[in-house]
Amino acid sequence: MSLAEATPSPALKGQARGRGRVTGAVTFLPPRAAASGLAEMLLLRPIVRGPWVLQRTPRLVAVAWGSHPQACAAWTPSRTHGTCSPGDGSWRWKVTAMGALLGLGAGLAYGDHRRRAAEAEPKAEAVSGAPYPVFTRQEVGQHRSLAERVWVTYGGEVFDITDFVELHPGGKSKILLAAGGALEPFWAMYAMHSQEHVLEILQAYKVGELSPEEQSQPSQGDPYSGDPPRHPALKVNSLKPFNAEPPAELLTENYLTPNQLFFKRNHLPVPAVDPASYRLQLEGPGGRVLALSLPELKRRFPKHEVTVTLQCAGNRRSEMSRVRQVKGLEWGVAAISTACWGGVRLRDVLAHAGYGEEEEAEEQHVCFEGLDKDLSGVAYGASIPYRTAMGREADVLLAYEMNGEELPRDHGYPLRVVVPGVVGARSVKWLGRVSVSREESPSHWQRNDYKGFSPAVDWDTVDFTTAPAIQELPVQSAITEPTPGAAVPPGELTVKGYAWSGGGRGVVRVDVSLDGGRTWRVAELMGEEQRPGRSWAWRLWQLTAPVPPDAAELNIVCKAVDASYNVQPDTVEPIWNLRGVLSNAWHRVRVTVAED
Ligand code: MTE
Repeated sequence: MSLAEATPSPALKGQARGRGRVTGAVTFLPPRAAASGLAEMLLLRPIVRGPWVLQRTPRLVAVAWGSHPQACAAWTPSRTHGTCSPGDGSWRWKVTAMGALLGLGAGLAYGDHRRRAAEAEPKAEAVSGAPYPVFTRQEVGQHRSLAERVWVTYGGEVFDITDFVELHPGGKSKILLAAGGALEPFWAMYAMHSQEHVLEILQAYKVGELSPEEQSQPSQGDPYSGDPPRHPALKVNSLKPFNAEPPAELLTENYLTPNQLFFKRNHLPVPAVDPASYRLQLEGPGGRVLALSLPELKRRFPKHEVTVTLQCAGNRRSEMSRVRQVKGLEWGVAAISTACWGGVRLRDVLAHAGYGEEEEAEEQHVCFEGLDKDLSGVAYGASIPYRTAMGREADVLLAYEMNGEELPRDHGYPLRVVVPGVVGARSVKWLGRVSVSREESPSHWQRNDYKGFSPAVDWDTVDFTTAPAIQELPVQSAITEPTPGAAVPPGELTVKGYAWSGGGRGVVRVDVSLDGGRTWRVAELMGEEQRPGRSWAWRLWQLTAPVPPDAAELNIVCKAVDASYNVQPDTVEPIWNLRGVLSNAWHRVRVTVAED
């Protein structure tokens, strides 16, 4: 039901009246309600807590806000070389301090809104009579844009926040991410909203209530019914199994991707692992199996923290399928994220099991098996070359922490592998077993997937035994702001994005063009300085440049250069492959130039 449709029929009035909340406060009209038949209904209501009519002139609040506190952690000098040293509490302190400042910024911004609202002399009228109309979540979900009006829910209440969108201190694009759904998951991440006056402001936009039967029930017998809840800002590429990426413009808001927004790539249902009975099966030389509990792992081996970017082999696949159809999920530019992982070094654990240099000489492989299994009982698996795990500088982790928190279920709770510099597919989650073998993992995902082929190869001719499994990924970069199709104002433009390369090769430069690649400027690199050869994490970058006068359209392009002077290919066609992996051509974003 839309508000326009909410003109009360006598029947609806009766129904709604029965469900309204009477609190004894004075009631004022929401602007839309005043303009619709709903006003009539609200006027029938006795004294109900709620809506106000305010004179709202859309004005932006000029307070920088909206970043997650972790954004700041990355810029602190105490965290260099790609590792976040254990016991170094200073960055956490700075995170907290910056978080508090950002919260204060938000408070000021919302405070300003409240002041202006008060100054605006609400055109409020006490009303009596009908309570709020009742809506389903589906009905709320139909209001996702300014054209359809923007509705959100909080608790059991429904709000039409269309007129607040321009006033949102965190920006219009951020608040629109919640359009049509619940505010709670966003407020949980951006905790500065949890203040009384923010709730007061929200109340001014109340237009209805949710029906009590709106609690979703997991369906019986669904293997995915035990999957964890996810953040609604994620762009879902497949629900079962769950595969999702954050909106591009949120991705580069933080150097460390907040756990809820970190891209999620699952092939199977998320297994429920009991940490008390959990044992990592570690096959030692000669087949002897060690079973290690979580407390044992934490006690026996030193804790190691490393900041690592994980990227899915299919990141940016959608650009490949625009050239020619490929098989796979339609990932945009955000199947890539960065976290500070905490755990034990795989090399320490393997050495404890009795492995040494011999296996390296024989070019063996370290094989991983997950606890997520398909219906026939086959687990997700992958392997990495032995030298990747055991090299003197190897930073491969068995991680139990992500950004200082317990590993979330979607990311492999209670233990996962994190292989820096290597395609995400080898970072096996819900780790059940580790073994060393002369053969690569027999897993489908090692042998018959995640491999690159010539554009000449199609599904009739492909032979997966002819190509090596992808390990280190090529140099990559993408534009996250502005987004494709956006209208940018004339004058000055800021372009933002990320850049990363596999194998620990740092990014040395990002070039940006506003004219499709005819002329270039060098972007400013931000984020952690890392050690040569161990640059496991991305660099964020930005460029502020004048918009060419009289340009009606811009074709923005970026390309990165890594420490080995590898550069991205300029077009997709020559790197097209039937699985749509390794998509790293220059990233291009077309925008229009228009006065605000
Ligand atoms: N491990 C298990 N056990 N099961 C999986 O489905 N997916 C892999 C890898 N590890 C996967 C897994 C793939 S393809 C990627 S890209 C990364 O996990 C994604 O990790 P994330 O979901 O933590 O971002």
